[in-house]
Amino acid sequence: MKTLREIKEVLKGICVSPSLLSCDFSKWAEEIASAKAAGANLIHWDIMDAHFVPNLTFGHPVVKKLRPHSDLVFDVHLMIDDPVTYAPKFREAGADIITMHIESPAFKDAKTVTDTLTGLKNTGCAVGLVVKPKTPAEAIFPYIDLCDIVLVMTVEPGFGGQSFMADMLPKIESIKSEIEKRGLDCALEVDGGVDGETKDLCFKAGATAFVAGSYLFGKPDMAERIKAFYAMEKKQNG
Ligand code: DX5
Ligand code: ZN
Repeated sequence: MKTLREIKEVLKGICVSPSLLSCDFSKWAEEIASAKAAGANLIHWDIMDAHFVPNLTFGHPVVKKLRPHSDLVFDVHLMIDDPVTYAPKFREAGADIITMHIESPAFKDAKTVTDTLTGLKNTGCAVGLVVKPKTPAEAIFPYIDLCDIVLVMTVEPGFGGQSFMADMLPKIESIKSEIEKRGLDCALEVDGGVDGETKDLCFKAGATAFVAGSYLFGKPDMAERIKAFYAMEKKQNG
């Protein structure tokens, strides 16, 4: 398993995190291997409990079973009512990054959020908070110093294949400027409707980590598509 230092090193540059929600569930291991072969440096796990979002996916035993099959950074996105109980289980299963929704009912007070983030960090896990489209950026500011990553949802969580919400761009900018103002070592990730065009808008707004499901999985030119994500940085640098 990767150390926190190694994970943070990956998070410093552009990250491409194909969402397994769009993969062929009859061949998980091959799908993860194909994402890596196509150039992805993260792999995104969408965990849904049919309460926090109106959809049900998979639990920590699936993550645990696949862990020995890949050395990709496992980027686990918890869309569940109770990340306080379950985040540690996903960590034990092999998650490298765990992001949790600030709107989760189990985050009943500030101390619970802080304790959960700190507890996971102490195990060497990279941690982050997620904001749904209707949640303002400011909701996570009290905890941003503890975050290795912040995830901005650019669709309502629950399903793949939805359209990108361009009105989330100012939120990305505002979180980016808070990160810079505080001089934090915190990555900024976007999730939902990310494709060849919307990725550029997110990158311009300050995002450096990109989740993409339907745009990447099952596409014969997945490698070309992924290459274009990394090219944004090169373009900017020269
Ligand atoms: C939505 C999930 C996303 C989803 C993205 O709740 O968090 O990760 O898989 O799918 P696309 O890229 O198809 O919008
Ligand atoms: Zn996700």
